[in-house]
Amino acid sequence: MGKLLLLNGPNLNRLGKREPDIYGSETLDDIKRKMTALLEPYQYQVDAKQSNHEGQLIDWIHEADKNYQGIIFNPGAYTHTSIALRDAISSVDVPVIEVHISNVHKRETFRHNSMLAPVCEGQIVGLGTKGYQLAAMYFMKQ
Ligand code: DQA
Repeated sequence: MGKLLLLNGPNLNRLGKREPDIYGSETLDDIKRKMTALLEPYQYQVDAKQSNHEGQLIDWIHEADKNYQGIIFNPGAYTHTSIALRDAISSVDVPVIEVHISNVHKRETFRHNSMLAPVCEGQIVGLGTKGYQLAAMYFMKQ
């Protein structure tokens, strides 16, 4: 059985309630349920974690090394600021895909830059919550 880690950063616990015009109406539970169903035929399971705290996200990235085949990571606003998360990703072998629900490039200029993208396997941006499923499918191709 393979394992993926679905990791979500700050404010994403409010998905479904938070600015639905930008982020849609699905909750993290909905996303996890869909991903579980999607991965089942591939003999993969998904663990989902969310934190509003940078250090907790860093600890989970460290712990994921050797325990998961991939991380699907929406770092929320830490995307644009966190050198510490970038260093955490660089420190592990497990590949990370960065996902953003909204098209950050259509939004404020402070959202255009990602500190993390250069150390991620790739980035999926602006495709809504479907972006998480697309990232999972990428790992199934390996
Ligand atoms: C986000 C985009 C970020 O700029 C923002 O801070 C978020 C959500 C997205 O999924 O579109 O919290 O990562």
